[in-house]
Amino acid sequence: MQVITTKQELTRQVEACIRQQKTIGFVPTMGALHQGHASLVQRAVAENDVAIVSVFVNPTQFNNPEDLQKYPRTLNQDVELLTQLGAHFVFAPTAEEMYSSEELNTSFSFDFNGLDQVMEGKMRPGHFNGVVQVVSRLFDLVKPTRAYFGEKDFQQLAIIRHMVTTSSLAQQYTNLQIIGCPIVREDSGLALSSRNQRLSETEKQTAVAISQTLFTSLKWAETDTVANVQQRVIDTINAIKGLEVEYYEIVDRTTLQPTDTFQNAIGCITVYCGPVRLIDNIQY
Ligand code: PAF
Repeated sequence: MQVITTKQELTRQVEACIRQQKTIGFVPTMGALHQGHASLVQRAVAENDVAIVSVFVNPTQFNNPEDLQKYPRTLNQDVELLTQLGAHFVFAPTAEEMYSSEELNTSFSFDFNGLDQVMEGKMRPGHFNGVVQVVSRLFDLVKPTRAYFGEKDFQQLAIIRHMVTTSSLAQQYTNLQIIGCPIVREDSGLALSSRNQRLSETEKQTAVAISQTLFTSLKWAETDTVANVQQRVIDTINAIKGLEVEYYEIVDRTTLQPTDTFQNAIGCITVYCGPVRLIDNIQY
């Protein structure tokens, strides 16, 4: 496996793949890889001739400087794991390689058709602009046949799908398939996340209540209303010492707008466990 740090070398390798009519599977990541990422890379390796993984902590999608600074960076371990998984190339650029200084200091703006007005978009202004900025740039460089994203970041996945299908950028991506992959969980039910590395053992045990409550809410949904289930999830988690719900919203899976029926619904949650912000979701 080759580690690439420049756009020029990446472009050279991608052009060689395209000349040889090889399909390219792409997994964009911010590193600190775990088994959730591994499941995406395994699919990219299995379903394509060449698998490219990017490892880049994208500064333009962080609206909180402390979060950016504390984001775990473990490139050597990541490279080891990706080698074992059979990835062909890792693209690990610096911020200066990815962006001009002007781009780093001005904000990119994109029309999300309302998908960014709720949940993460409401809580983290500018976050999805940064995500679309980096993902579109990576797509332009990697020219993937298929790109793999985890369903844990469900809103991100919906926005990327919108970007490649209906947005003003869509015509650049007519041959690109976006593939959503299921959440990978610890045996306890805790959704795997790079941010879990920042949890103490006690916090990790406490955080298990998030997924447990979401799973229990499937039962509540059999007999109760959407509004009541939403509130019961919030109240149950907030009653646990060390957890604080930022939002829990049950929305339509396609539009991400609030819904009053469980048909095609997903519940998306963000919870602070101590200082660490964790997200999860459940499909009803
Ligand atoms: O999901 C992530 O890790 C990031 O948002 C992504 C898609 C790699 C863009 O930086």
